[in-house]
Amino acid sequence: MQETQPDPIISVRDLVVGFRDRTILKGLNLDIRRGEIMGFVGPSGQGKSVLTRTILGLIPKRSGTIRVFGQDMDGMSLGERRRVEQRWGVLFQHGALFSALTVKQNIQVPMREHLNLSERLLDEFARLKIEMVGLKPEAADKYPSELSGGMIKRAALARSLALDPEILFLDEPTSGLDPIGAGEFDDLVATLKRTLGLTVFMVTHDLDSLYTACDRIAALGDGQIIAAGPIDHMLAHEHPWLRSYFHGKRARAIVTGGDIHV
Ligand SMILES: Nc1ncnc2c1ncn2[C@@H]1O[C@H](COP(=O)(O)OP(=O)(O)O)[C@@H](O)[C@H]1O
Ligand SMILES: [Mg+2]
Repeated sequence: MQETQPDPIISVRDLVVGFRDRTILKGLNLDIRRGEIMGFVGPSGQGKSVLTRTILGLIPKRSGTIRVFGQDMDGMSLGERRRVEQRWGVLFQHGALFSALTVKQNIQVPMREHLNLSERLLDEFARLKIEMVGLKPEAADKYPSELSGGMIKRAALARSLALDPEILFLDEPTSGLDPIGAGEFDDLVATLKRTLGLTVFMVTHDLDSLYTACDRIAALGDGQIIAAGPIDHMLAHEHPWLRSYFHGKRARAIVTGGDIHV
Protein backbone atom coordinates (compact mmCIF):
# COMPACT_ATOMS: atom_id res chain seq x y z
CA MET A 1 0.00 0.00 0.00
CA GLN A 2 1.05 3.48 -0.77
CA GLU A 3 0.88 4.85 2.81
CA THR A 4 3.05 2.18 4.39
CA GLN A 5 5.06 3.61 7.26
CA PRO A 6 8.11 2.07 8.90
CA ASP A 7 6.46 0.93 12.11
CA PRO A 8 2.76 0.08 11.86
CA ILE A 9 1.32 -1.14 15.13
CA ILE A 10 -0.64 -3.77 13.20
CA SER A 11 0.40 -5.16 9.88
CA VAL A 12 -1.70 -7.66 7.96
CA ARG A 13 -0.26 -9.30 4.86
CA ASP A 14 -1.85 -11.60 2.27
CA LEU A 15 -4.46 -12.68 4.79
CA VAL A 16 -6.78 -15.47 3.69
CA VAL A 17 -9.66 -16.51 5.94
CA GLY A 18 -12.57 -18.76 5.07
CA PHE A 19 -15.21 -21.07 6.41
CA ARG A 20 -15.73 -24.43 4.73
CA ASP A 21 -16.02 -23.73 0.98
CA ARG A 22 -16.33 -19.95 1.37
CA THR A 23 -13.37 -17.64 1.30
CA ILE A 24 -14.14 -14.40 3.12
CA LEU A 25 -10.79 -12.57 3.15
CA LYS A 26 -8.81 -13.11 -0.04
CA GLY A 27 -5.25 -11.94 0.40
CA LEU A 28 -5.95 -8.84 2.46
CA ASN A 29 -3.25 -6.26 3.23
CA LEU A 30 -3.65 -3.55 5.84
CA ASP A 31 -1.44 -1.40 8.06
CA ILE A 32 -2.68 0.39 11.15
CA ARG A 33 -0.41 3.14 12.38
CA ARG A 34 0.38 3.86 15.97
CA GLY A 35 -1.81 6.63 17.35
CA GLU A 36 -4.43 6.75 14.62
CA ILE A 37 -8.14 6.07 14.62
CA MET A 38 -8.74 3.89 11.61
CA GLY A 39 -12.34 3.51 10.52
CA PHE A 40 -13.16 0.25 8.78
CA VAL A 41 -16.10 0.18 6.39
CA GLY A 42 -17.61 -2.13 3.84
CA PRO A 43 -20.91 -3.74 2.91
CA SER A 44 -22.59 -5.91 5.51
CA GLY A 45 -21.41 -9.51 5.59
CA GLN A 46 -18.12 -8.80 3.81
CA GLY A 47 -15.88 -9.82 6.68
CA LYS A 48 -15.22 -6.72 8.81
CA SER A 49 -15.91 -8.61 12.01
CA VAL A 50 -14.07 -11.64 10.66
CA LEU A 51 -10.95 -9.54 10.07
CA THR A 52 -11.19 -8.06 13.56
CA ARG A 53 -11.61 -11.49 15.14
CA THR A 54 -8.81 -12.96 13.08
CA ILE A 55 -6.40 -10.24 14.19
CA LEU A 56 -7.47 -10.99 17.75
CA GLY A 57 -6.70 -14.67 17.19
CA LEU A 58 -10.30 -15.79 17.63
CA ILE A 59 -10.71 -17.11 14.08
CA PRO A 60 -7.97 -19.19 12.42
CA LYS A 61 -6.49 -17.95 9.18
CA ARG A 62 -5.70 -20.09 6.19
CA SER A 63 -2.60 -18.14 5.24
CA GLY A 64 -0.91 -14.79 5.53
CA THR A 65 0.82 -12.92 8.33
CA ILE A 66 -0.44 -10.78 11.16
CA ARG A 67 2.12 -8.72 13.03
CA VAL A 68 1.13 -6.79 16.15
CA PHE A 69 3.59 -4.55 18.00
CA GLY A 70 6.17 -5.76 15.48
CA GLN A 71 5.71 -9.39 16.48
CA ASP A 72 4.41 -12.16 14.26
CA MET A 73 1.34 -13.65 15.95
CA ASP A 74 2.30 -17.09 14.61
CA GLY A 75 4.80 -18.96 16.61
CA MET A 76 4.24 -16.97 19.78
CA SER A 77 4.31 -18.89 23.00
CA LEU A 78 1.15 -18.84 25.12
CA GLY A 79 2.85 -16.45 27.52
CA GLU A 80 3.76 -14.04 24.72
CA ARG A 81 0.20 -14.21 23.39
CA ARG A 82 -1.23 -13.40 26.78
CA ARG A 83 1.08 -10.41 27.08
CA VAL A 84 -0.04 -9.14 23.67
CA GLU A 85 -3.68 -9.67 24.65
CA GLN A 86 -3.14 -7.46 27.68
CA ARG A 87 -2.04 -4.67 25.38
CA TRP A 88 -5.32 -4.48 23.46
CA GLY A 89 -8.90 -3.84 24.46
CA VAL A 90 -11.96 -5.01 22.56
CA LEU A 91 -15.54 -3.85 22.29
CA PHE A 92 -17.43 -6.40 20.20
CA GLN A 93 -20.38 -5.67 17.96
CA HIS A 94 -22.83 -7.36 20.28
CA GLY A 95 -20.48 -7.04 23.21
CA ALA A 96 -22.89 -7.14 26.07
CA LEU A 97 -21.93 -6.60 29.66
CA PHE A 98 -22.41 -9.51 32.03
CA SER A 99 -25.98 -8.87 33.17
CA ALA A 100 -25.50 -10.43 36.61
CA LEU A 101 -22.58 -8.11 37.40
CA THR A 102 -22.60 -4.42 38.22
CA VAL A 103 -20.71 -1.95 36.04
CA LYS A 104 -17.82 -1.97 38.49
CA GLN A 105 -17.69 -5.76 38.58
CA ASN A 106 -17.83 -5.90 34.77
CA ILE A 107 -14.85 -3.57 34.50
CA GLN A 108 -12.96 -5.65 37.04
CA VAL A 109 -13.38 -8.93 35.11
CA PRO A 110 -10.30 -8.43 32.89
CA MET A 111 -8.36 -6.99 35.85
CA ARG A 112 -9.05 -10.09 37.94
CA GLU A 113 -8.12 -12.31 35.02
CA HIS A 114 -4.78 -10.67 34.26
CA LEU A 115 -3.65 -8.65 37.27
CA ASN A 116 -3.09 -9.53 40.84
CA LEU A 117 -4.57 -6.54 42.67
CA SER A 118 -6.04 -5.93 46.08
CA GLU A 119 -9.79 -5.25 46.32
CA ARG A 120 -9.01 -1.68 47.23
CA LEU A 121 -6.95 -1.14 44.07
CA LEU A 122 -9.54 -2.96 41.95
CA ASP A 123 -12.15 -0.51 43.20
CA GLU A 124 -9.89 2.47 42.66
CA PHE A 125 -9.03 1.44 39.09
CA ALA A 126 -12.67 0.73 38.24
CA ARG A 127 -13.57 4.18 39.61
CA LEU A 128 -10.96 5.76 37.32
CA LYS A 129 -12.25 3.92 34.23
CA ILE A 130 -15.82 4.93 35.02
CA GLU A 131 -14.74 8.55 35.24
CA MET A 132 -12.68 8.23 32.07
CA VAL A 133 -15.71 7.23 29.97
CA GLY A 134 -17.86 10.01 31.37
CA LEU A 135 -20.16 7.97 33.58
CA LYS A 136 -21.24 9.26 36.96
CA PRO A 137 -19.66 7.56 39.99
CA GLU A 138 -23.09 6.16 40.94
CA ALA A 139 -23.06 4.05 37.77
CA ALA A 140 -20.47 1.77 39.42
CA ASP A 141 -23.05 -0.17 41.40
CA LYS A 142 -25.74 -0.28 38.74
CA TYR A 143 -26.64 -3.41 36.78
CA PRO A 144 -26.75 -3.25 32.96
CA SER A 145 -30.56 -3.49 33.02
CA GLU A 146 -30.63 -0.18 34.90
CA LEU A 147 -28.61 1.67 32.24
CA SER A 148 -29.52 3.42 28.98
CA GLY A 149 -28.05 2.18 25.69
CA GLY A 150 -25.46 4.95 25.66
CA MET A 151 -24.44 4.22 29.25
CA ILE A 152 -24.06 0.51 28.44
CA LYS A 153 -21.70 1.37 25.57
CA ARG A 154 -19.67 3.59 27.86
CA ALA A 155 -19.52 0.89 30.52
CA ALA A 156 -18.42 -1.65 27.91
CA LEU A 157 -15.80 0.83 26.73
CA ALA A 158 -14.61 1.22 30.31
CA ARG A 159 -14.26 -2.55 30.52
CA SER A 160 -12.23 -2.62 27.29
CA LEU A 161 -9.92 0.00 28.86
CA ALA A 162 -9.52 -2.05 32.04
CA LEU A 163 -5.94 -3.10 31.33
CA ASP A 164 -4.78 0.27 29.93
CA PRO A 165 -4.52 -1.06 26.37
CA GLU A 166 -2.45 0.50 23.60
CA ILE A 167 -4.88 -0.61 20.89
CA LEU A 168 -8.64 -0.52 21.04
CA PHE A 169 -10.75 -2.64 18.68
CA LEU A 170 -14.30 -1.35 18.36
CA ASP A 171 -16.75 -3.33 16.24
CA GLU A 172 -19.70 -1.08 15.37
CA PRO A 173 -19.62 0.58 18.77
CA THR A 174 -22.38 3.07 18.01
CA SER A 175 -24.87 0.70 16.42
CA GLY A 176 -28.17 0.98 18.25
CA LEU A 177 -27.46 4.49 19.52
CA ASP A 178 -29.34 7.54 18.32
CA PRO A 179 -27.24 10.04 16.30
CA ILE A 180 -26.56 12.26 19.33
CA GLY A 181 -25.52 9.32 21.48
CA ALA A 182 -23.36 8.03 18.63
CA GLY A 183 -21.73 11.44 18.17
CA GLU A 184 -20.97 11.68 21.87
CA PHE A 185 -19.45 8.23 21.84
CA ASP A 186 -17.22 9.17 18.87
CA ASP A 187 -16.10 12.31 20.68
CA LEU A 188 -15.25 10.21 23.69
CA VAL A 189 -13.18 7.80 21.59
CA ALA A 190 -11.35 10.72 19.95
CA THR A 191 -10.64 12.26 23.36
CA LEU A 192 -9.36 8.96 24.75
CA LYS A 193 -7.15 8.56 21.72
CA ARG A 194 -5.62 11.96 22.36
CA THR A 195 -5.25 11.70 26.11
CA LEU A 196 -4.17 8.07 26.30
CA GLY A 197 -2.29 7.88 23.01
CA LEU A 198 -4.48 4.99 21.91
CA THR A 199 -4.53 3.41 18.49
CA VAL A 200 -8.11 2.62 17.51
CA PHE A 201 -9.43 0.21 14.89
CA MET A 202 -13.13 0.93 14.54
CA VAL A 203 -15.58 -0.94 12.36
CA THR A 204 -18.39 1.49 11.72
CA HIS A 205 -21.37 2.22 9.50
CA ASP A 206 -21.63 5.70 10.86
CA LEU A 207 -20.67 8.32 8.29
CA ASP A 208 -20.45 11.00 10.93
CA SER A 209 -17.79 8.96 12.75
CA LEU A 210 -15.81 8.70 9.56
CA TYR A 211 -15.88 12.44 9.04
CA THR A 212 -15.23 13.55 12.58
CA ALA A 213 -13.40 10.85 14.51
CA CYS A 214 -11.28 8.86 12.05
CA ASP A 215 -7.80 9.80 10.88
CA ARG A 216 -7.91 7.25 8.10
CA ILE A 217 -10.48 4.92 6.64
CA ALA A 218 -10.08 1.52 5.03
CA ALA A 219 -12.81 -0.05 2.93
CA LEU A 220 -13.34 -3.77 2.50
CA GLY A 221 -14.78 -5.20 -0.68
CA ASP A 222 -14.64 -8.70 -2.09
CA GLY A 223 -12.20 -9.89 0.53
CA GLN A 224 -9.63 -7.18 0.01
CA ILE A 225 -8.97 -3.56 0.91
CA ILE A 226 -10.47 -1.48 -1.90
CA ALA A 227 -8.91 1.73 -0.64
CA ALA A 228 -7.36 3.18 2.49
CA GLY A 229 -6.57 6.77 3.38
CA PRO A 230 -7.92 9.98 4.87
CA ILE A 231 -11.54 10.92 4.20
CA ASP A 232 -10.63 13.13 1.22
CA HIS A 233 -8.90 10.20 -0.44
CA MET A 234 -11.99 8.05 0.07
CA LEU A 235 -14.34 10.79 -1.18
CA ALA A 236 -12.35 11.13 -4.37
CA HIS A 237 -12.12 7.39 -5.00
CA GLU A 238 -13.67 5.95 -8.15
CA HIS A 239 -14.75 2.59 -6.76
CA PRO A 240 -18.53 2.21 -7.25
CA TRP A 241 -19.24 1.06 -3.71
CA LEU A 242 -17.24 3.97 -2.26
CA ARG A 243 -18.98 6.38 -4.58
CA SER A 244 -22.43 5.26 -3.56
CA TYR A 245 -21.45 4.99 0.10
CA PHE A 246 -19.98 8.45 0.39
CA HIS A 247 -22.00 10.25 -2.27
CA GLY A 248 -25.27 8.34 -2.43
CA LYS A 249 -28.68 9.28 -1.07
CA ARG A 250 -27.92 7.90 2.36
CA ALA A 251 -24.71 9.90 2.57
CA ARG A 252 -26.51 13.09 1.64
CA ALA A 253 -29.16 12.40 4.25
CA ILE A 254 -26.65 11.77 6.99
CA VAL A 255 -23.83 14.22 6.45
CA THR A 256 -24.55 17.13 8.73
CA GLY A 257 -24.33 20.88 8.49
CA GLY A 258 -25.13 21.08 4.79
CA ASP A 259 -21.54 20.15 4.04
CA ILE A 260 -22.49 17.83 1.26
CA HIS A 261 -19.78 16.24 -0.80
CA VAL A 262 -21.15 15.48 -4.25
N1 LIG B 1 -17.74 -18.52 12.54
C1 LIG B 1 -18.24 -18.44 11.32
N2 LIG B 1 -18.54 -19.56 10.62
C2 LIG B 1 -19.03 -19.48 9.36
N3 LIG B 1 -19.24 -18.34 8.69
C3 LIG B 1 -18.96 -17.20 9.33
C4 LIG B 1 -18.45 -17.18 10.68
N4 LIG B 1 -18.25 -15.88 11.03
C5 LIG B 1 -18.63 -15.13 9.99
N5 LIG B 1 -19.05 -15.91 8.97
C6 LIG B 1 -19.51 -15.43 7.66
O1 LIG B 1 -18.51 -14.57 7.15
C7 LIG B 1 -19.11 -13.48 6.42
C8 LIG B 1 -18.56 -12.18 6.94
O2 LIG B 1 -19.10 -11.96 8.23
P1 LIG B 1 -18.79 -10.68 9.10
O3 LIG B 1 -17.34 -10.50 9.25
O4 LIG B 1 -19.57 -10.85 10.36
O5 LIG B 1 -19.39 -9.51 8.22
P2 LIG B 1 -19.41 -7.95 8.54
O6 LIG B 1 -18.59 -7.30 7.47
O7 LIG B 1 -20.86 -7.55 8.42
O8 LIG B 1 -18.86 -7.76 9.91
C9 LIG B 1 -20.61 -13.61 6.60
O9 LIG B 1 -21.13 -14.21 5.44
C10 LIG B 1 -20.74 -14.54 7.77
O10 LIG B 1 -21.91 -15.28 7.69
MG1 LIG C 1 -19.71 -7.18 11.69
